[in-house]
Amino acid sequence: MQSELDKLIEIMDKKGMATYFTTFGKGASKYGKRQLFTKTPEPLATVWTWKYREAKELLHEISKHLTPEQAERRTIHFINPSLKDIPVLGSAGITPTLYGGLQLIRPGERAPYHRHTAVNFRLILEAPKQGAYTTINGYRIELHRGDMTFQVPWVWHEHGNEGDSDLIWFAGLDAPLVAFLGGMFYEAPESKEDEEHIRKSMRGTGEDANKMFGKSVKPVLLNYPSYVKEFNTTYNPLVYYPFDNVINALMVLSSKGEMDPYVGYAVEYVNPLNGGPLFSTISTSMILLPSNKALKPIRRVENAVFIVFEGNVTFSIEGTEQIKAEPHDVVVIPSWKKYSIENDTGSKALIFKYSDSPLFKYMGVYRESFE
Ligand SMILES: [Fe+2]
Repeated sequence: MQSELDKLIEIMDKKGMATYFTTFGKGASKYGKRQLFTKTPEPLATVWTWKYREAKELLHEISKHLTPEQAERRTIHFINPSLKDIPVLGSAGITPTLYGGLQLIRPGERAPYHRHTAVNFRLILEAPKQGAYTTINGYRIELHRGDMTFQVPWVWHEHGNEGDSDLIWFAGLDAPLVAFLGGMFYEAPESKEDEEHIRKSMRGTGEDANKMFGKSVKPVLLNYPSYVKEFNTTYNPLVYYPFDNVINALMVLSSKGEMDPYVGYAVEYVNPLNGGPLFSTISTSMILLPSNKALKPIRRVENAVFIVFEGNVTFSIEGTEQIKAEPHDVVVIPSWKKYSIENDTGSKALIFKYSDSPLFKYMGVYRESFE
């Protein structure tokens, strides 16, 4: 029999109203709802992994069935199984905040210009010796294995492969978050003339941007360009981080000092204007874990995605079976799950990590726990 409380809840539900007790308080589970004020974070996403070999095979397979027009971007992306019934996140979320996936550009192909408010980085996994390129905000960048290239909100970008083998990268975006919050804008050139105009508006090469901003100096300017003012809090003036810079820093770090027991030898990709993370929504780092070394368990308030760049490692994550990861495999660790990483092989491992930690830091709720 329906209680007076149940009747009232039904009436309120029809009118778009609810009450604490039955919606996200102690009575929530009885009414099929999820508690909001949990003692510790209970993330929406789940621990998951995807094998590169399988994803790459499917990417090639699906590419056979896409016309060049449909294949404006030949991609395969990863959906967190716990998010699949949630609008927006269910079609694009590797975590509630982040997108993660692979993109393929075959020799002779081009992914045409467009721009959007979601930010995007790309870690180059496979590239021809020469001829792979991207153009971001008027800077043309030659792409090689291990390079990380990116664009800030609302700048034009295109990619191409004039080399003799496939170009494959791992792309990370904050698109699920931006779309979910109602901040997505997207634009493609309206005509061939528009596209030609964008193509001709060149600033230089990726190395030019690095010489100005990525080598311990920055230009003294009274006025930054208008697009910088528009997004001035976190504008990152670089367009790529060469792999050499990252590996050289890691080599020096690992040859000079004791390894941090929780993070290994790790470097973060920083914004040279403010010393902060790559984007206001995403931080990125590369971890070097020497042979036969294991990190101590840690938990953090962040949704993190790991891509094994080199070597083989084992992830031990609270509440789930161990994950053995090979090169380019992807592992997701949602907020507050305790985890550790071990390299029990005879060679070093490099692990790329991206996460939404800047958001939690901005909100003042970031936390770490070493037990
Ligand atoms: Fe894009």
